[in-house]
Amino acid sequence: MLAIETSCDETAVAILRQRHSGHELLASEVASQIAAHEKYGGIVPEIASRNHLVYAPRLLDRAASAAKTRWAEINAFAATRGPGLASSLMIGASIAKGLAIGFGKPYLGINHLEGHLLSPFFAVETDANNNIKPNVSLIVSGGHTMLVVVGGLTNYKLVGHTVDDAAGEAFDKVAKMLGLGYPGGPEIEEHARSGDPKRFDFPRSMLGSENFSFSGLKTAVRYLLPKLHLIPSEVEESGDATTTGSPGVPSTQLRFSRDDKLLADLCASFQQAIIDVLVTKTIAAAQKHRVNLVTISGGVSCNQELRRQMRDASSRKGIEFKSAQPWLCTDNAAMIAFAALLRLRAGFESRLTEEIDPNLKVA
Ligand code: KG4
Ligand code: ZN
Repeated sequence: MLAIETSCDETAVAILRQRHSGHELLASEVASQIAAHEKYGGIVPEIASRNHLVYAPRLLDRAASAAKTRWAEINAFAATRGPGLASSLMIGASIAKGLAIGFGKPYLGINHLEGHLLSPFFAVETDANNNIKPNVSLIVSGGHTMLVVVGGLTNYKLVGHTVDDAAGEAFDKVAKMLGLGYPGGPEIEEHARSGDPKRFDFPRSMLGSENFSFSGLKTAVRYLLPKLHLIPSEVEESGDATTTGSPGVPSTQLRFSRDDKLLADLCASFQQAIIDVLVTKTIAAAQKHRVNLVTISGGVSCNQELRRQMRDASSRKGIEFKSAQPWLCTDNAAMIAFAALLRLRAGFESRLTEEIDPNLKVA
């Protein structure tokens, strides 16, 4: 199975082979565009799409030679068909369809979210029939925060989603406020290591609901900074703390030295607020829906502290816990190839007339 992922700003190609006892990843190439978008403070769809067009053919060649495979030996072609940026999705899907037509092989359009939610089972975790064990899946990335009850392959029920920012987006925005780099998650995690998670009591929103909200947490951090005589270094909306800072607070840029204790405590307290919400809701969903396995995937699930606390909370309740391997958490094509291979073996195939869908839902 060859899969192409171009839902956002990462171009990725992977080749995966089914083995009797699992799967063998023959190639997995990812080209990041972070540098191209950094100076704009966000992803510019036009630039992302033009870069996909340049990178995808190069990655296809690299993947084929890494896999030591001839094009004619590939049995099926897949691409992410949504959700994502229309102009980006279009590139990967068009190339995969072109290859499928050219080599007379099946095409599969894959839901990016299905790629994430199956990634904890990647390679070794499926039995001979590729059965996915029922689980409550927490997908946490820069674009999504959702709880999905998974009954098995293709049996997904969305039970919770964010009503505003995604968890990763909150990490990225708060990191920006603190003058840290993009993506913000890894930076915050790094500083949080030496910080006190109890120093600042940030809000844990909507704990009684299966849905999530992180914008209040982001705002709480923003309004705390002037009180600490710190002014956010950069904020994206107008009329916020930069212009409304407390009287008498010097409007200097926020500057921390690399080992600043205050920065570490802010990061640790912010991270802990997010982790508390994610862990509490995921375990509650597993209990409510009587599921004995919790899985986490997506970029934020790289976070070691989240993984540790989710594992501990699960074991306290006698629930099994599985996370995607760290290299599979952020966007990649291996997870798309894996979902496509499971689907192909279960008898699924997509029509070549199937369109991309920027708003594709998981269920
Ligand atoms: O899954 P992903 O690569 O892209 C999307 O589909 O959105 O996730 C990227 C997100 C970013 O918001 C990034 O800050 C966050 O994942 N992230 C982390 C960590 N590593 C990446 N958040 C918290 N802790 C991390 N270690
Ligand atoms: Zn993703």
